[in-house]
Amino acid sequence: MVVLETHQLTKQYLMGKVVVDALAGVDFSIGRGEFTAIMGPSGSGKSTLLHLLGGLDTPTSGEIFLNGEALSGLNDEEITRLRRRKVGFIFQFYNLLPTLTAAENVALPLLIDGQPLAAKREQIDQLLALVGLAERSDHRPDQLSGGQQQRVAIARAFVNQPEIVLADEPTGNLDSRSGAAILDLLRQTCREFSATIVMVTHDARAASYTNRIVFLKDGRIVRQLDGEGHGVAVQDITAVMSAIDL
Ligand SMILES: Nc1ncnc2c1ncn2[C@@H]1O[C@H](COP(=O)(O)OP(=O)(O)OP(=O)(O)O)[C@@H](O)[C@H]1O
Ligand SMILES: [Mg+2]
Repeated sequence: MVVLETHQLTKQYLMGKVVVDALAGVDFSIGRGEFTAIMGPSGSGKSTLLHLLGGLDTPTSGEIFLNGEALSGLNDEEITRLRRRKVGFIFQFYNLLPTLTAAENVALPLLIDGQPLAAKREQIDQLLALVGLAERSDHRPDQLSGGQQQRVAIARAFVNQPEIVLADEPTGNLDSRSGAAILDLLRQTCREFSATIVMVTHDARAASYTNRIVFLKDGRIVRQLDGEGHGVAVQDITAVMSAIDL
C-alpha cells in the first residue's frame, strides 16, 4: 500500500535575483513498511525533499499525497495537525529539550498536541524500553550519551504512531558503533511495526540498512536501488555513488 507519493515536486528558492532549483521535478512513491534512504551530494535537495514531505515547507509546484490525500488541499491548521499526528521527525543533532527528562521529551509531541498524558504513561515506558532506555527515563539529555539521546529522539518520533518517520542524517553525529545500533533499531521498527521511514544519509553503510535507495542530484532523482525487501549491498551503493560522481 502506498503511503506517500510525490508528483513532479519542485522547490525554488530566490536568493536575491537568482533562482535556486532545489528540487526540479521529483516523482516517487513509498509503500507502508518501507525503509528508504535518500542519498546525494551536498546541495542536491535531500533536506528540502524531507521538509516538503513532512509539511515543514511547501513546494513551489507539484503535489504530495499522504495516504492519497493531497497536502496542497490542506489549510495551515490542517497541515499543523498532520505534522503533529502523522509525521515523526528525527534530526542529526537530536533536538531534545535540555530541561526535560527522557520520558518528558518522548511525551512532548503529545503535550504539544494537547493530548492527556495520564493514559499514555505506559506507552511512553514501552517506547523507552524498545529503544533500550527503560532505566534512563528520568535522565536529562546532558546525562545521556549521543547515541542514547538519539534513541530518545526515535522514541519521540514514534509516540504519535505516525504514518511516516523522516530522518535527516540520524547517525551523522554518532560514532560508527552507536550509529549501527541506531540503524538496527530503525530497521527493526520497520519490520516489527510496519513503520515507514525515509532517511537522508551520506553514508553507504547507513544506506545499506534500508530496502531502497533514491539518489538525488541537482534536485532530480538520477538512480534508484531496490533491495527487494532485503538490504542493499554496500558495494552496489558505492558503485552507483562513483558512477553518478557522488
Ligand atoms: N532556505 C533556503 N534559501 C535559499 N536556498 C536554499 C534554502 N534551503 C536550501 N537552499 C538551497 O537549495 C539547495 C538544496 O539544499 P538542501 O539543503 O536540500 O541540500 P542537501 O542535499 O540537504 O545538502 P546537505 O547534504 O549539505 O545537507 C542548495 O543549493 C541550497 O543552497
Ligand atoms: Mg541536508
